[in-house]
Amino acid sequence: MQAKDLQAAFRPASGAAIPPVGLGTFGSDSVGHQEVAEAVRYAVGIGYRHIDCAAVYGNEKEIGAVLKSITTGTAGYPAVARKDLWITSKLWNDMHPPAKAEAAFKKSLSDLGLDYLDLYLVHWPFPNFHPPKCDVSSRSPDATPYIHERFMETWAVLERMAAAGLVRHIGTSNMTIPKLKLVLADARIKPFANEMELHPHFQQGELFDYVVKNGIVPIGYSPLGSPGRPDRDKTPEDTVDMDDPVILDIAAKRGIHPAAVCLKWAVKRGQIPIPFSVKERNIESNLRAASVDPLTDAELRAIGKIDKNCRLIKGQVFLWQGAAGWEDLWDLDGTITK
Ligand SMILES: NC(=O)c1ccc[n+]([C@@H]2O[C@H](COP(=O)([O-])OP(=O)(O)OC[C@H]3O[C@@H](n4cnc5c(N)ncnc54)[C@H](OP(=O)(O)O)[C@@H]3O)[C@@H](O)[C@H]2O)c1
Repeated sequence: MQAKDLQAAFRPASGAAIPPVGLGTFGSDSVGHQEVAEAVRYAVGIGYRHIDCAAVYGNEKEIGAVLKSITTGTAGYPAVARKDLWITSKLWNDMHPPAKAEAAFKKSLSDLGLDYLDLYLVHWPFPNFHPPKCDVSSRSPDATPYIHERFMETWAVLERMAAAGLVRHIGTSNMTIPKLKLVLADARIKPFANEMELHPHFQQGELFDYVVKNGIVPIGYSPLGSPGRPDRDKTPEDTVDMDDPVILDIAAKRGIHPAAVCLKWAVKRGQIPIPFSVKERNIESNLRAASVDPLTDAELRAIGKIDKNCRLIKGQVFLWQGAAGWEDLWDLDGTITK
């Protein structure tokens, strides 16, 4: 399918369009909340309209204060209307039980200082809590594998929030095809988007195609290969997208940074990248990269061949006791691991 055809999937029945590039806001345990909020202020000032937030990032209050300044015209540039912004937030794993989920949704809404969200995602399909900065080998005694009935109870809360007009779209994140099949069969409101790890060395072709075929918008996280990810998410086998010879070659021929090539690949392929940065120069060049001078079809094909199936955000901390390894989270054999 051509990228231009994929764009049709980005137009939900309501007619609302999700901006084709967003700013990530996960400070990876190392960038302060206020610094991330200031990045949001700068980003909207130069043209970003899509901000990817989450309760677990711990910075929604700081971002909320900045959003208020943006919509009231005190951010240092003319006001940007709420209706022109796309704000996503996510439900954290320890808040899946329905009573908690509604409270968590409303807390994000209140921390962000908003009357409604544009998109609310179930951050991970597991109700498993882990303390911040915990060791990757730790296993919570309460952690469980995916339990579809419980997930749908959580999903029903999101559906209710949507029906009440408190969120315009609801979606999933870190899902697999077997899990999505069950959700698509049972959901009253189908997921609008699935946020998933997507970068040149981790293209997830099968899941990407499945998502698009089912009219779900693919939002790609860690689009640059997450060089600043927490140490717990690093392993010796991990590869580096921005060092790939094909990426470097295209970057050199175009006279641009390898990061720009990764973002152009994402947009041309038809996913929505949400790069994180707190550096003005990078925030600006990422927006420019995603917006102008698209890759050629030949460049798209060349990057299509460098997939290394290298998952960076493996999710070890969400494993349950008795799980064999992080692969159990991702249903690699096509069935849900129990
Ligand atoms: N749904 C999920 O489970 C999930 C999981 C992970 C991430 N996410 C979302 O996705 C967002 C992005 O993912 P990510 O933060 O893991 O990784 P990323 O966007 O691939 O990489 C961010 C890193 O790249 C650097 N960077 C940004 N622009 C650059 C440029 N032009 N040149 C060189 N370096 C550049 C940043 O540092 P500087 O600040 O120095 O520029 C930062 O260290 C997150 O912030 C979060 O919102 C969602």
